[in-house]
Amino acid sequence: MSILSRRISKVSLPILLFLALGFLSGCSREPKLPELVLPETDLASAALIPKPVRVVNKPAAFPLDHHTAIFTEMGRDAFTGVGLFLSQEIQKTQNLAIPVNPDSSTDLFRGIYLIQTPGMEQEQYELAISSDSILLRSATAEGAFRGVQTLRQLIPHISNDTLAEYPVWVIPGGTIQDEPTFEYRGGMLDVARHFFDISDVKKYLDIMAYYKMNYLHLHLTDDQGWRIEITSWPKLTEIGGQTEVGGEAGGYYTQEAYKELVAYAGDRYITIVPEVDMPGHTNAASVSYPFLNGNGKTPKPYTGMRVGFSTLDTRKDTVYQFIDDVVREISALTPGPYFHIGGDESHATPKAEYEYFIKRVVPIVRKYGKIPIGWDEVGTVSLDADVVAQYWQQDKANVARAAEQGMKILMSPAKKAYLDMSYDSISKFGLHWAAYIPVDSAYTWSPETYSSEIPRAAILGVEAPLWSETISTIAELEYLAFPRLLGYAELGWTPPAERSWEDYKMRLIRQTPYFKRLDIQFYPSQRVPWMEADSLLPWHNNRTK
Ligand code: ACM
Repeated sequence: MSILSRRISKVSLPILLFLALGFLSGCSREPKLPELVLPETDLASAALIPKPVRVVNKPAAFPLDHHTAIFTEMGRDAFTGVGLFLSQEIQKTQNLAIPVNPDSSTDLFRGIYLIQTPGMEQEQYELAISSDSILLRSATAEGAFRGVQTLRQLIPHISNDTLAEYPVWVIPGGTIQDEPTFEYRGGMLDVARHFFDISDVKKYLDIMAYYKMNYLHLHLTDDQGWRIEITSWPKLTEIGGQTEVGGEAGGYYTQEAYKELVAYAGDRYITIVPEVDMPGHTNAASVSYPFLNGNGKTPKPYTGMRVGFSTLDTRKDTVYQFIDDVVREISALTPGPYFHIGGDESHATPKAEYEYFIKRVVPIVRKYGKIPIGWDEVGTVSLDADVVAQYWQQDKANVARAAEQGMKILMSPAKKAYLDMSYDSISKFGLHWAAYIPVDSAYTWSPETYSSEIPRAAILGVEAPLWSETISTIAELEYLAFPRLLGYAELGWTPPAERSWEDYKMRLIRQTPYFKRLDIQFYPSQRVPWMEADSLLPWHNNRTK
């Protein structure tokens, strides 16, 4: 039995009926879809990022054209939503209208079928591309969404106008079986040092989704600004939200705007992780409510770049009431499982007070149904194993202690994964206190083996934080994030044996049509052999070369 017929035997009834109808109409003298002679394709050399786990090449390519329709599981709204997402993206990118679940009795279509297939993992999917159909199988709509990104990456940015009287986009034939290595593949935006409004964050989410990333951590509070409305403590944004590094006006998300972001992320199967950094990095909170710092002084707004000078009063019950309100309000707006409590660089908090503080805040987070995450310093505190430690410092003592306690570790080592580290000594933006991180260095490390203190089983995933001290516009943000973010997406998804810089960089250059279309101001590192975007197809095609 071929892979395809085995697949079809598991397809649900409505889709089977549809396939059968298509077949019957093909046998009768009814009008048929035009037969197209398509060029040879090579799915195995497609420029997919992240690289899929298994790809098998087949000669029969699929012609995407105005005879194509998307069919999704009947009665499964989430699958229909994914089908509509694909249709909208094709409309935007190829300017081609593809109906979703059209009435099959009136027109004849080549179908892209989103088929629910029990027994697969949460994000696992399989794509079978042949000349008359594309079958995308997954257990969940989330899995279908990941597979849809693969499909989007396979559609050339330009049509082939020599095959028919109308434009045809040739999708290479074959099968892909794919699933992620890590369940957490994230990015972080620091919207506190400089504020970025929701349109900027939405663009970042669009790009993360295209590369199958699934968590966006928002660093919402710091010394220089408080960026999320808390209705029970309004001065946090009325006062604390009005500043940023360099003395510009700052800004904040209303709860409505934050909800809009959470929903936008959710539509892309990305989970927002909110961070309220404490007990340090809290100057903006104490400017708004001076009792919080416990030293009897009203601090001045801070617009510089130093760290480690602020702390909350760890012995005041009203401070914990404040934290309870903040965690309660943000948790109610956040459907995801995690709440990040920061906990880094609390140099103004005595060690014993730091431990006392973290031990009091962790249960507050749990009370509102969230799993606490903290920067690796929280690993020094005796905590239950359900707390996640985010590894960032070169000194491994904290993370080793966290791993000993059975805590899960999120891998963001600053020397490799900090997007705010400059590419090199002539980079326009960024810092270099941890390292210069050129594009190849960002890619050529393994979260799995980076630290002998962290066993593979303890690793939750990979996150690339982008601190914003030196950047204040989306173009500057993009200069630091791209192309490096794509490498982190691959480190999180693709198994180590499938990763190679030489292979990756040739897939990376083929992303430039996408970068161009989204106007992504990426850094054209000399270490990558960039080419003119218009001459690139997402897969190699020997006949057209
Ligand atoms: C950090 O970079 N302070 C987590």
